[in-house]
Amino acid sequence: MSYLIANWKMNLPPEGIESYLANVTGTDPRDVTLVVAPPYPFLNQVVQASGICVAAQNCSDRPSGAFTGEVSPGMLRECGVDYVILGHSERRTLFHENDGLIARKLTLAIATGLKPVLCIGEDLRVRDAGEVARFLADQLRMAAVDTLVDADEVVIAYEPIWAIGTGRNASGAMVAETLVDIRSALERFWPASFAAAPILYGGSVTPDNVEDLVAHGTIDGFLVGGASLDARKFLAIHAAMR
Ligand code: PGA
Repeated sequence: MSYLIANWKMNLPPEGIESYLANVTGTDPRDVTLVVAPPYPFLNQVVQASGICVAAQNCSDRPSGAFTGEVSPGMLRECGVDYVILGHSERRTLFHENDGLIARKLTLAIATGLKPVLCIGEDLRVRDAGEVARFLADQLRMAAVDTLVDADEVVIAYEPIWAIGTGRNASGAMVAETLVDIRSALERFWPASFAAAPILYGGSVTPDNVEDLVAHGTIDGFLVGGASLDARKFLAIHAAMR
C-alpha cells in the first residue's frame, strides 16, 4: 500500500478548496491512499469529500481539559478524521515539541483510533557529521510507545529538515540508503508487526523530481507540502507513482 499525503500547513489552495477537492476526488487513486491534511477549520470539508482520507496536522497529548487552543485526538475522531501527522519538524523546531511530547501524542492518538503519520528527519549538521542512522534510530526508539502494539496502521515519513520547503530535495539514492537505516531501526526498536511499516519521503517533492525518487523503488509514498497546494502538481506526483 502506498500513500500520497498533502500537507497544506497553514495555507489553503489558491484555486479554492472546493475546486481542489473536485480535482483530486475526480482521479482514480489506484492503489494509493490519498490523504489531505488541511488546517483544523477545514477538516470537515475534506471529510465530506469522497475517495480521499483526511489527516489533522497535529493533536493534543491530552484527552480533554483546560488546554486553550488544543484539539484532542477524540475530537478529531468525532469529526471523521482518519490520520494525524505527528512530530513534523516544524512542530519540533518552531513549537519546541520534544520526543517525550511526541510519544505522548502518539500514545493517545493510537488509543483513540487515529492513524499516526510519524515524521522523523535530521538537520544538516547531523547529516554532515555522518550521524543520520543513529539520529533517526533515536527518534524511532523514543517513539516506540506501548500502544503501538494496538495500532492497526502507522506510517513513517522520512523528512530531512534541510529539504523541507527549501527546494532542495534529497536524491532518490540518498533516500533509498537512509530507508535501509530506518528499516533496521524499526526492526530493533518497534514491535515486530511494524518492521514493515510504510515509509514515505517528504521534502520539496515536486512533479519534476518525483521520478528520481520513485525510480529507486523503496519509497512507499510521499508527504508533500508546497507542491500539494496545487491540485495539478499533486496529481502529477500521484501519476508518477504508477
Ligand atoms: P515541502 O514540505 O514539500 O514544502 O518541502 C514537506 C513537509 O513539510 O511535509
